Amino acid sequence: MSAPPPADRAEELREAIRHHDYLYYSLDRPEISDAEYDRLFRELRALEEEHPELVTPDSPTQRVGVEPLEGFGQIRHLEPMLSLANAKDETELRAWHARVLRLSEQAGFAPEELRFVAEPKIDGLAVSLRYEDGRLASGATRGNGVIGEDVTQNLRTVGAIPLRITAVHGAVPALLEVRGEVYLPLSAFERLNEQRVAAGEPTFANPRNAAAGSLRQLDPQVTASRPLTIWNYGVGFVEGETFESHSQVLAWLAEHHFRVSPDVESASDVEELIAVCRRWEARRGDLEYDIDGVVLKVDDRRLQAALGSVGRDPRWAVAYKFAPSTAQTRLRRIGINVGRTGVLNPYAVLDPVQVGGVTVGLATLHNEEDINRKDLREGDMVVVQRAGDVIPQVVSPLTELRTGQEQPFRMPEHCPSCGTPVVRTPGEVAVRCPNPDCPQKLMQLVEHFVGRPAMDIEGVGEKLVHRLFALGLVRDPADLYDLGYEDLIELEGFQERSVRNILAAIEASKERPFGAVLFALGIPHVGGQTAEILIERFPSMAALREADAEEIAEIPQIGSVIAQSVADWFADSRNQRLVERLEGAGVRMRAEAEEDRAAKPLAGQNFVITGTLPSLSREEATRLIERAGGKVTGSVSGKTDYLVAGENPGSKLEKARSLGTAVLDQRALGKLLEG
Ligand code: IVH
Repeated sequence: MSAPPPADRAEELREAIRHHDYLYYSLDRPEISDAEYDRLFRELRALEEEHPELVTPDSPTQRVGVEPLEGFGQIRHLEPMLSLANAKDETELRAWHARVLRLSEQAGFAPEELRFVAEPKIDGLAVSLRYEDGRLASGATRGNGVIGEDVTQNLRTVGAIPLRITAVHGAVPALLEVRGEVYLPLSAFERLNEQRVAAGEPTFANPRNAAAGSLRQLDPQVTASRPLTIWNYGVGFVEGETFESHSQVLAWLAEHHFRVSPDVESASDVEELIAVCRRWEARRGDLEYDIDGVVLKVDDRRLQAALGSVGRDPRWAVAYKFAPSTAQTRLRRIGINVGRTGVLNPYAVLDPVQVGGVTVGLATLHNEEDINRKDLREGDMVVVQRAGDVIPQVVSPLTELRTGQEQPFRMPEHCPSCGTPVVRTPGEVAVRCPNPDCPQKLMQLVEHFVGRPAMDIEGVGEKLVHRLFALGLVRDPADLYDLGYEDLIELEGFQERSVRNILAAIEASKERPFGAVLFALGIPHVGGQTAEILIERFPSMAALREADAEEIAEIPQIGSVIAQSVADWFADSRNQRLVERLEGAGVRMRAEAEEDRAAKPLAGQNFVITGTLPSLSREEATRLIERAGGKVTGSVSGKTDYLVAGENPGSKLEKARSLGTAVLDQRALGKLLEG
């Protein structure tokens, strides 16, 4: 068998590369490895070098032109690039829909013929790609809608843009303008800004600016180095193909390997349109690209033509705009919080600004390394971002707006709470206050200790912890158990009843399961789940205290860092004293053995409590039942053995009666507890 002639092999390779480009760039579903792709590409390039007469302008090797340009030429669009009117809320959307409905009826269309297509409104840069006989002839920015800038060389470097169209059925259109939005994926945007900071270059304020800056480059090599991509959303001038609807246009584009959003939806009435917009708004934070709204388009192209436009805005389309999810504001200063393990956590104090519909004045800053990588300085104008319910973040500084007064950030050398020199562990980004008596650190530890997943002491929250520290009544978690009625009744705003409740909650916490106690200690790296894993092997405080790091690391799910951290914690004499004091106070120090549990009078019984009991709070009743081996859950089901009902029992009582569940009052519960 002999090798195919070079011309055939070149065409074979081009076809294969085009196919894999499509899978990779447009569908995000590559079928071969990068190495295999490179092999095809190198073979084609070698072949073309050997036989320069075989090079075609639409060959994949020709994406990056060689020479930078002096300036951009101009291109007149064959059909103008329109813009879009906005609907800023539901009311405006309804008004737009009502007008379309009225005008389409006047134009002789029945209301049930009216269908819409909803697409994401991508926040990038609009371009028009001109194909002549299926080959990419030129590409331009929108410009003023009539004339744009010639960015052909740069658009050729965008892998998702086909250099040629392969006919699927019949011939390719003689002349075709494809319209779309070029954008930079968010991850690429963040990487780009980090590189620019490292190189001392100004950062981009948002992905749109970055996309525009990347496309409007005189040197196509620079554009090629930026992973731009495109969503195509329409056509301009067309010759040699007819489309009856917009959905047909999108289907045709996708079929011919143009990148079209897979999430385009159709809708037929205004309620559906509104629902689609809400869905997109909810998904907004999960996308790999920025969208600033949803574009709603009348599907029927004849109706589009009949509706026409007002100035540059077609009547047949509208952009439903979201509230902006990013904003620019001043970074006033960088504050420091000391966490319970002593880690210094920086946070941003901002000039309050509206982002995504809420006012933001504080934002997280992760750690020192992150601040330096982004080159955030006190006094900078910055971009702030908020997505869904997540804590607002400072994305990047606007370095072009610097005045020279901005102060680079340095982690303090001393703890802002106690003044102790901080320590840095090699290989760790965190900076810690090593002082075991640091008040802010201890306060955070106590806040953690009383929290729901830890000792679950209801009524003792951040505010009360702060007051107790300020008064010197509490300095560490064990002090909570020394609090008496007299200490608390002195506090402003506290009455007998609230004090009794707090003392009861503190008392009840002594019965918390051992896993919760271990977690509550705040040992670095020991979260709730790790605590549970540890107690399976070491079911008591004594057992864990005796273990050395190697023994702890023998547990399969525990790594050496955690093991060392636990061993170090128990080796510290202050921690030993803390544990002793907690033990002395009666806090549970060992996991209940299965036998113990089974021996208890209420073992295996499920309880639900409802209404107000005469002299027990719900927490107290819960602790009593749990101590006797029973389990308390929130709602009545077939598994419930007893409903404990007080005054005003509500629907749980009805449910229990309908299921035939036994109902107890406080007295009957008392008898049951006594066995
Ligand atoms: S359609 C009537 N569809 O929004 C046709 N535009 O404000 C006009 N854009 O210049 C364009 N996503 O840059 C259309 N799915 C989409 C779009 C979209 C983003 C941009 C485009 C246009 C601007 C109009």
